[in-house]
Amino acid sequence: MLDGEYGEGYEIAMSVLVKLGDIYGADRMLKVENVHIDGAAYGWINDSGLELIGKLASSGARFRVPATLNPSSIDFDMWQELKIPSHVARKQLRLAKALKRMGGTPTWTCAPYQYGADLRFGQKVAWGESNAVGFANTVVGARTERLGDLADVCAAVAGEYPNFGLYLDENRRGQVLFEPDRLDVDAFDSTDYGVLGFFVGSIAKARVPVVSGMPEKATTDQLKSFCAAAAVGGSVALCHLCGITPWAKTVAEAFRGSKPEEKIIIEAGELDQARQKLSTANEEPPEVICIGCPHCSVQELVKVARLIKGRRVEDSVRFLVFTSRAAKTLASEMGAVETIESSGGRVIADTCWNFIPSKAETLMTDSVKMAWTSLGKFTNVALGSIEKCVDVAAGTMPRG
Ligand code: F3S
Repeated sequence: MLDGEYGEGYEIAMSVLVKLGDIYGADRMLKVENVHIDGAAYGWINDSGLELIGKLASSGARFRVPATLNPSSIDFDMWQELKIPSHVARKQLRLAKALKRMGGTPTWTCAPYQYGADLRFGQKVAWGESNAVGFANTVVGARTERLGDLADVCAAVAGEYPNFGLYLDENRRGQVLFEPDRLDVDAFDSTDYGVLGFFVGSIAKARVPVVSGMPEKATTDQLKSFCAAAAVGGSVALCHLCGITPWAKTVAEAFRGSKPEEKIIIEAGELDQARQKLSTANEEPPEVICIGCPHCSVQELVKVARLIKGRRVEDSVRFLVFTSRAAKTLASEMGAVETIESSGGRVIADTCWNFIPSKAETLMTDSVKMAWTSLGKFTNVALGSIEKCVDVAAGTMPRG
């Protein structure tokens, strides 16, 4: 592939991967079973990324393994209504065409592990998007390094990735032990799981955390929230949740014979402090309330619909719910999308809240990832459960 035998596109992709492997000291290339492409939004990869992907596609390069796509810069059905600039939409449409021409599965979601991707324990994959990488490693027990934008596209073209980082056993061993025994984790909702993940990430930073004694009944949505928040609290791409992570049923299994560098007994007060960091103190009412970072599952859409049914979103509030096209389609069949929208909310698919033009200064969200990454963009940010977000949207609860 590297010597151009298969054509220019394959040669470019492989030369990028070989260079990456050299930088990180990989001993060989690894065959991967599938790829999740983070660099699927024009808004992230800009003109240079679009040019590269266009060149790969027109040179005849095709994905050698299944490749799911992260959110795009537009909702393909309603970008005009959302006032996405037409030059952005045009370029996103070109990018989508090129990615699909190469064989990309148009999932347009940051939760591909819920809809579209084929993941299983022990599988070697090559994924971008920090929450998805965390979920694949932590919850499913697949193996992936954190791929950067465009390296993921090259991996899909080559069907290979250099063998370094989290593909190696020695880098998957636990390093920091967190004991949540003093917390009532059984009573946690998805946002609480996010706060816990954020706290763990902020202490572990780039080390591999181990959390002892996690409830096996934790839902996929709660674990999604945990992994997304751990990735922004630190740069956690793998966390051993004992009782959940398949090859870390016990603390001993997670540490694989080594000793924890640090041991943290988590107190409820520390989670309260973490939660405070995720909201501004100001009590200004939110102009926009967003749910779905990472993208909502069908169950979450149904939950929002159940909570909002028979109520009305306040005129002063924009209530936006983000999800994948697949989840929106299923939830539409169940009547959930119509319930949310007839109450004044909007269910947006294929894209990420980052790409929705807004002049709002005040935000409320159920998502720890969104709250943390919004602090510099909005003057006021409030974090609350889905229930609380809906109550505030419907004007039946003060924001605080
Ligand atoms: Fe997904 Fe955008 Fe959040 S890609 S995880 S909705 S920041």
